[in-house]
Amino acid sequence: MDQNTKKQKVAEAVLDYITNGESLGIGSGSTVNILIENLPKVKNKIRSVVSSSVKSTELLQAHGFEVSELRDVGKLTKYIDGADEVNKDLQMIKGGGGALTREKILAHASEKFICIVDDSKKVHTLGNFPLPIEVIPMSRSSVSLELIKHGGRPVLRENFISDNNNLILDIHNLQIMEPIKLERDINNIPGVVTNGIFALDHAHILLSANDDGVEVSELNA
Ligand code: 5RP
Repeated sequence: MDQNTKKQKVAEAVLDYITNGESLGIGSGSTVNILIENLPKVKNKIRSVVSSSVKSTELLQAHGFEVSELRDVGKLTKYIDGADEVNKDLQMIKGGGGALTREKILAHASEKFICIVDDSKKVHTLGNFPLPIEVIPMSRSSVSLELIKHGGRPVLRENFISDNNNLILDIHNLQIMEPIKLERDINNIPGVVTNGIFALDHAHILLSANDDGVEVSELNA
């Protein structure tokens, strides 16, 4: 089964997790785009929907959804999003599409985070995928120097400005052995807006599509 078919399968499978009266947070990326195309099938169950990026907002509107602001909705019942890497503790690297800041805000505001991926995203150790960090533009060099101390190789994402008018540094060569510690450490560097380690706000349920179907992993907490 090719990667696109797997994305299709997992984006359809997550519809079963949407129950009546949801205040739903919607992530960003190609897997989520397929979810949005399928979302009208469960429209009657969705009370409100909040989006993590301009792109997802536009796609939701094109599919007939009125997109709410988080401040008007408050707590989200579920947040559904993809990931660039995910480990067995359902900690992730996210931000390949550059929407990590709003994604983390929605993940944090949500009671349950459901991550939808194809099986190529499952890893033992996070870090093979370059870690995205959104930074205030004037701090790009000073933040880069700090990441070099952590053994990383920062690369400025070319021709990219985030939805929040910031830059993205992609940090190569990291072996993230302690995701929670590194997430906190990077958060403490002045100029960092958000880093793409989602360990403090890990997923609660992982749906992962493989050749045989969709595998479900759920954390007990
Ligand atoms: C965007 C993200 C996406 O969830 C991540 O990049 C995965 O995308 P895709 O579904 O296209 O593989 O974090 O910022």
